Amino acid sequence: MWTGQKNKMEENYLKEATNPFQYDSEAVNWKREGLKDSPTRRFFWEYLREHLNVKGKSVLDIGSGMGQLFPLFEEMGALKIQGVEPSSRNIGVSQKIYPNVPVFTGTLAQMPETSFYEIITAIMVFEHIGNLGDAFKKINKLLSEGGRFFLIVADKEYHSTQRFGYKLESQKIGNGEVAIKITRPHGVGVLYDIIRPLQNYIAAAKENNFVLENHVELKPTKNFIKDEPKYVQFKDSPLCHLLIFKKSRSRRINHNKTVKTINNRRGQIFFAT
Ligand SMILES: C[S@@+](CC[C@H](N)C(=O)[O-])C[C@H]1O[C@@H](n2cnc3c(N)ncnc32)[C@H](O)[C@@H]1O
Repeated sequence: MWTGQKNKMEENYLKEATNPFQYDSEAVNWKREGLKDSPTRRFFWEYLREHLNVKGKSVLDIGSGMGQLFPLFEEMGALKIQGVEPSSRNIGVSQKIYPNVPVFTGTLAQMPETSFYEIITAIMVFEHIGNLGDAFKKINKLLSEGGRFFLIVADKEYHSTQRFGYKLESQKIGNGEVAIKITRPHGVGVLYDIIRPLQNYIAAAKENNFVLENHVELKPTKNFIKDEPKYVQFKDSPLCHLLIFKKSRSRRINHNKTVKTINNRRGQIFFAT
């Protein structure tokens, strides 16, 4: 067997997608995304401006990358901003441009549970998270009571569609999920992602005490199509989804049981789950 063929057979897309140092790889050229006028950044900002309110609040951005969201949070009047990011290359860029925003070097799982946040965001990061249940559990611990989690994830259909001359290869990983390898010859380079049905995110969130408050389909906006005219063919298709989760009220009574509270006319009812 010649080496090229052997390497191809051995490549495990799920392992690559969940490698926290993927963005340090030579194969990834992510410079354009770090620019303030990057069309992708402007696309997400457009939707977040409409749905996110961080004024006077503490915010944690998971997978903060090169700090793409930091200026938006500042502009919106966030009280405190914190990032968490495993790629030292991305952190290097973010610290250079936004030296006043602290970033924990490591993965979400490694983040110490010493501070709590009113808002947590994760934009195109869960594509690199293998265990959704563990991630929502961790976010639940980092969120203050009644806090909100803003999650943007890839649309499965769009991200499985051959487009723009990219090379798209996929491996099924069960539960309707696929790990993909996407090669953009004249752009970002080679990236691996996990693409999931939306329902998988919603179910994992529900199991971990979150309520889905809002779901917004992120279709190409007029501004985005102006920046990137090739997207006009997808103008009616969601490229991604914004899921807004609220941490539901709960009170721990011992290590195994959680008490949820609901209000009725006579007062609060407590029931163990
Ligand atoms: C597609 S980029 C998104 C960056 C940024 N959120 C944005 O809006 O552009 C995914 C980021 O998630 C980071 N990442 C990968 N695995 C992670 C993990 N387990 N915990 C936290 N961040 C992770 C990557 O290093 C990368 O910077």
